[in-house]
Amino acid sequence: MDKKVLGVGVIGCGAFSGAYIGSLGPVFKNCKVLACSDIDMDRAREVAEKWNIIACTTEELLANPEIDIAVIVTGPASHYPLTMQALNAGKHVYCEKPMAITVEQTNEIVALAEEKGLYVTNAPDTILDSTMQTARKALDDGLIGKPLSVTMNFIGPGADWWHPRPDFLYKIGGGPVMDMGPYYLSAAVSILGPIEQMFAYAAKGFDVRPIQDHECTVDVNTDYKAVLKFRNGVIGNINLSFDSVRSSSPGFEIQGTEGVLFIPDPNTLTGEVKVLPRQKLKEAVQGRRMGVAWMYSPEALELAEELPRAIPPIEAHRGMGAADMADCIISGEAKPRCSMYIARHITEALLAFDVCAKTGLPYNMTTTCERPDPVY
Ligand SMILES: NC(=O)c1ccc[n+]([C@@H]2O[C@H](COP(=O)([O-])OP(=O)(O)OC[C@H]3O[C@@H](n4cnc5c(N)ncnc54)[C@H](O)[C@@H]3O)[C@@H](O)[C@H]2O)c1
Repeated sequence: MDKKVLGVGVIGCGAFSGAYIGSLGPVFKNCKVLACSDIDMDRAREVAEKWNIIACTTEELLANPEIDIAVIVTGPASHYPLTMQALNAGKHVYCEKPMAITVEQTNEIVALAEEKGLYVTNAPDTILDSTMQTARKALDDGLIGKPLSVTMNFIGPGADWWHPRPDFLYKIGGGPVMDMGPYYLSAAVSILGPIEQMFAYAAKGFDVRPIQDHECTVDVNTDYKAVLKFRNGVIGNINLSFDSVRSSSPGFEIQGTEGVLFIPDPNTLTGEVKVLPRQKLKEAVQGRRMGVAWMYSPEALELAEELPRAIPPIEAHRGMGAADMADCIISGEAKPRCSMYIARHITEALLAFDVCAKTGLPYNMTTTCERPDPVY
């Protein structure tokens, strides 16, 4: 393609739209946001004025020949229809997570994108962040030997504590699995490879949530415990909860034959990647009276070594995935890292939590994907 800067249209002008408008152009120079749309035109006009872009309807945005990429930042239920609409209008798509709310919808998106020769990429693009790339490199370099197991925990009180309009997070397509699961599972899959089989239990702690001036009926499960088996033999567990208080459980760690990898929260990306080598801990334990008791103390964790970053921290919170796709469109080299194949696999796994909880049976994944190319 001749263009060096691609035109972007943002569909959905809610709480998170600024994360994209503020990065695609200002930080990632291969993109420029030209227009935005929303079913609430007042909201679209407000955002357009703030960022000095055009406010229009979604139909107008998708008919604009200057726009190459549609970035969809609406609630989960509209991701599938808007992605299909954008593809049918000839646009490449970067869509917020989850990709869709049924496996059939993800298959239809993949089929249409392949037929049209267009890219679909999906959040989370946090897998491209400096912290996640550092964790991936540590694993690929063999710093913890052969990976054996992974533990992931997002345990907290729920979306009404942080979101200005959280109702959609308690409706179909919401809940802690669909909302927070993508960060953890995408990071795990991009580091370890695809999931083969899983099992989960689910519960709902509160039927109604008081939200600002009204009460929201909770239509989805809000507390999940699951076990996972990856294709490479790694076994894992994940707890995702909107029903809890704080937890002292580790957020994200991978145990290996030679050590353990401590990984920061794959959503907020705060903190450092650390390795605690098995031998280093063993020597410290053996050199101490009551060494085994000490091993379980917080002090023993201080032996973990902070790893140098594999790539420098990225200036923007979001936008890396769309910019990475823009590079592929411009260069004609066809491998966007936040690919629709990963998103389809992750969406199937997210939906499988409730399938397992309902059937009481393990779920064998029907989709797979390859790990994305590393950034480092
Ligand atoms: N808010 C966050 O911190 C955050 C962080 C990461 C990801 N996300 C994801 O971003 C997406 C949007 O979240 P948000 O927090 O901005 O939600 P929001 O409710 O604040 O905004 C969504 C906007 O989309 C508009 N909309 C809904 N359906 C539409 C349609 N068919 N066409 C055009 N516009 C439509 C709504 O009117 C609203 O303005 C969700 O998928 C969410 O999971 C949000």
